[in-house]
Amino acid sequence: MHCPADGLECHVPNRAFPVVDDGAIDASEARMHGALVFIHIMARIIHKKENIMNEATLNTLKADLSGQVAIVTGAAQGLGQRIAITLAANGAKVACLDMKKEGLEETIQAITDAGGIAKAHECNVTDRERVDQVVDHVVEDWEKIDILVNNAGITRDTLLPRMTDDEFESVINVNLRGSFLFMRAVSRYMMRARYGRIINMASISGARMGNPGQTNYSASKAALVGMTRSLSKEIAGRGVTVNAVAPGFIQSAMTDALGDVAKEEAKKRIPAKRLGTAYEVAAAVLFLASPAAGYITGHTLVVDGGITG
Ligand SMILES: NC(=O)c1ccc[n+]([C@@H]2O[C@H](COP(=O)([O-])OP(=O)(O)OC[C@H]3O[C@@H](n4cnc5c(N)ncnc54)[C@H](O)[C@@H]3O)[C@@H](O)[C@H]2O)c1
Repeated sequence: MHCPADGLECHVPNRAFPVVDDGAIDASEARMHGALVFIHIMARIIHKKENIMNEATLNTLKADLSGQVAIVTGAAQGLGQRIAITLAANGAKVACLDMKKEGLEETIQAITDAGGIAKAHECNVTDRERVDQVVDHVVEDWEKIDILVNNAGITRDTLLPRMTDDEFESVINVNLRGSFLFMRAVSRYMMRARYGRIINMASISGARMGNPGQTNYSASKAALVGMTRSLSKEIAGRGVTVNAVAPGFIQSAMTDALGDVAKEEAKKRIPAKRLGTAYEVAAAVLFLASPAAGYITGHTLVVDGGITG
């Protein structure tokens, strides 16, 4: 029997309670049936526990980032916040950047409460002067930059015939140009140090598939993947890797904005039958940020529950 809700193969007889000739339930068969139902329910619980990553599961994944310095943009909430916390939990000092001061404070608090080191920098990733200034500050504070996670991103979804210039340009400006500004600012430090890990937050929208209403967003993310591949070839010889992570539908403020109906529709199309979590994206970033991923560059790691598989 196949359980469509979660894709789990299970072996509960697909029939009603066994009934003997006179209509009474046979007691031993009924007990057997009850036991099988119990096993089925437990299997579903275990199956779900094993598959949905939470903080404890993420903490089982370890990378030695001690002594390393990381910059994470868009670190005030969502994926960026989880990525910053994860890199810090693995020993990196983390410069957390965002325009949202309050969210940044929350991220810093979470990191320092757990014994990590982090510093907040208010920064609009589209402000070239500020980007250069923040990168220089990080180097003044901590002498180097080992890891850059270009995570800040926005959506301004609407169908193309109705899309304004501002909706198009603002998305390209934050998602693509902001990442470019940071890559340019950090790459000279990384190349000089002959070590670096750059991770760009792309999306399956653009990187792997089209999405109606997202021509601006998918253009920005497809271009980010192209930039990732080209830069990886420019600086691989200096020990700097450049990769992208392309999440699918992940539980976050960004997907909450889609509304419940759209989220339920999305779930039906995802082979894993659920949205992903920030922990699952952070795990992919942690791997690519680690010294162990030194021979992987120009790659896009898709984290999407199988939707583009
Ligand atoms: N959530 C998803 O399902 C999903 C899927 C694919 C890709 N992504 C990508 O992952 C990244 C993070 O997504 P999220 O869901 O956590 O989004 P989010 O909206 O929850 O967080 C984005 C963060 O980026 C910050 N930010 C936006 N513009 C900025 C700017 N100009 N300068 C500095 N900071 C800025 C915001 O303040 C916010 O803290 C984005 O690049 C997004 O495109 C998300």
